[in-house]
Amino acid sequence: MKDYSPRPDLLAGRVILVTGASSGLGRAASLAFARHGATVALLARNEAKLEAVYDEIIAAGGAEPAMFPYDLAVADDRSLETLAGTLAHHLKRLDGVLHSAHQFYNLTPLSLQTLDQWQSLMRVNLIAPFALTRACLPLLKQSPDASVVFTGETHGHQPAAFWGGYAVAKSGLETLTRIWADEISPEENLRINTLIPGQVATSLRARTHPGLDPDTLPSTDDLMPWYLYLMGADSTSVRGQIIECRN
Ligand SMILES: NC(=O)c1ccc[n+]([C@@H]2O[C@H](COP(=O)([O-])OP(=O)(O)OC[C@H]3O[C@@H](n4cnc5c(N)ncnc54)[C@H](OP(=O)(O)O)[C@@H]3O)[C@@H](O)[C@H]2O)c1
Repeated sequence: MKDYSPRPDLLAGRVILVTGASSGLGRAASLAFARHGATVALLARNEAKLEAVYDEIIAAGGAEPAMFPYDLAVADDRSLETLAGTLAHHLKRLDGVLHSAHQFYNLTPLSLQTLDQWQSLMRVNLIAPFALTRACLPLLKQSPDASVVFTGETHGHQPAAFWGGYAVAKSGLETLTRIWADEISPEENLRINTLIPGQVATSLRARTHPGLDPDTLPSTDDLMPWYLYLMGADSTSVRGQIIECRN
């Protein structure tokens, strides 16, 4: 898939919501989606960082993005439905959601992890992706070809010591993907998949593997062929899959 070569207008006319759009993979995907013709709705907490991504998209000649400064840790159904309603009102449609936001503390043994940390890990990494997708379903179902992409994590797929509640939440996304895909009939123009980026040079990787030289890791841009493939019409037959990015 790293050799996938998307058409320049792959996402022309589409509206895509990206969580975690202010940094790392979410930022790179927002820029890539906009470069391929999409109008992007940028969601994260830090407004200044969102504005920086907004400016980059405009400077590159992309369609004017929408910005949603929003904290997924305190999301509830009502505010998510309001968010979806605002999106519908201003952008008129929704063709895709990339869930890239995440909450991470440190790599620690389970014996040192607290209930409060687990609640926060579950809320941002698992519950919010579910609830935001659910709130967006009426809009997504109006799209001729909608794609929802959850972002998994290698240790959610293959558990290992010290990844704790983070890995448990990420493994839940895989189960969520399979259940949802099973509930969507083949006739519906909606697909849901989980993408596992693997190692990539972002601030998160610097925290989990501080000894690794980032220059030896794939960059966020190296992974964009997977993101574009899953968000665009070339992947319409890919449903309910857990996909690992491999170089
Ligand atoms: N980097 C890797 O090696 C790697 C490997 C496997 C999986 N992943 C997955 O890839 C995804 C992106 O990771 P990344 O490395 O790009 O992370 P990152 O650079 O740390 O970016 C995380 C994003 O999440 C947003 N965010 C955090 N808490 C939030 C909240 N409560 N509400 C709304 N937004 C929130 C942050 O923005 P604000 O601070 O502005 O809110 C930021 O935009 C994550 O799901 C991660 O689990 C990454």
